[in-house]
Amino acid sequence: MSSRQITVIANWKANLPPSEEVALAKAIAEELGSALKVKGSPSSLRLLLAPSALGLVPVASLLRREYPEAGIDVAAQDVSLSSAGAFTGEIPAEHFVGIAPAIIVGHSERRRDRGESDEAVGVKLARVVAAGLAPVLCLGDNLPSADIAARVDFVQAQCAAAFAAAERAGCNATQLYAAGLVIAYEPVWAIGTGNPASVEIAEAIASGLRSALNREELPVLYGGSVDAASAATWFGTPSARTGLDGLLVGGASLHADRFVAIVRAALAVTEPA
Ligand code: PGA
Repeated sequence: MSSRQITVIANWKANLPPSEEVALAKAIAEELGSALKVKGSPSSLRLLLAPSALGLVPVASLLRREYPEAGIDVAAQDVSLSSAGAFTGEIPAEHFVGIAPAIIVGHSERRRDRGESDEAVGVKLARVVAAGLAPVLCLGDNLPSADIAARVDFVQAQCAAAFAAAERAGCNATQLYAAGLVIAYEPVWAIGTGNPASVEIAEAIASGLRSALNREELPVLYGGSVDAASAATWFGTPSARTGLDGLLVGGASLHADRFVAIVRAALAVTEPA
């Protein structure tokens, strides 16, 4: 388990204008510089910052120009249902090529606020894969007091619906895996509430998804009210890692010191490259 790569993603949502996103990326890269150097090239840790669509290019340029050794990359927060063409205001997947290697798909805020269905999520997955990029598929129950088995059932069904829709859009499970699919379990009741799920729940979801998909190596992250104080509990220890492969961090990632503390907790369980 300890050799599995850890992925930590900062989801800045629509909180900051691009100039502040650049400043935040700079602060994170500066603070992490020394930690990453001590640890060596962090091949066992993948760090992605997900700024707004307008912040992607300036943040990616900053990271590549000034901090190439830090190995921090960017991810997009969403993608259009459409391919390139006459679709005013849309950003198709292929336009992220060379800018963002990964794209978040199906975040619960888009499902809730923009009515994004499993069908739409599946089409977006297919678009991301067709562009040669890696999808980060968000799944999550809105069952604050359900038992673990009911949650696992819900998330498995949500995953199956997205996979089936992706397949109808021309992208099967094998193609999703080959593209580097990562799943983020983000219970709706935990996002932005200060009330994270337990590691036990997140691990049960991760293993439920891996067994439903018959894919032991499927990377599953957790997201929802993760903060610096509790970061280490999501990773475990170097000799006893949890069944999770990383974190998707919202609110805490808007503060360089809090996000860096979360990354340091991840570094503590990774092996030096
Ligand atoms: P949060 O957001 O960390 O602020 O709860 C997580 C997310 O929505 O990805």
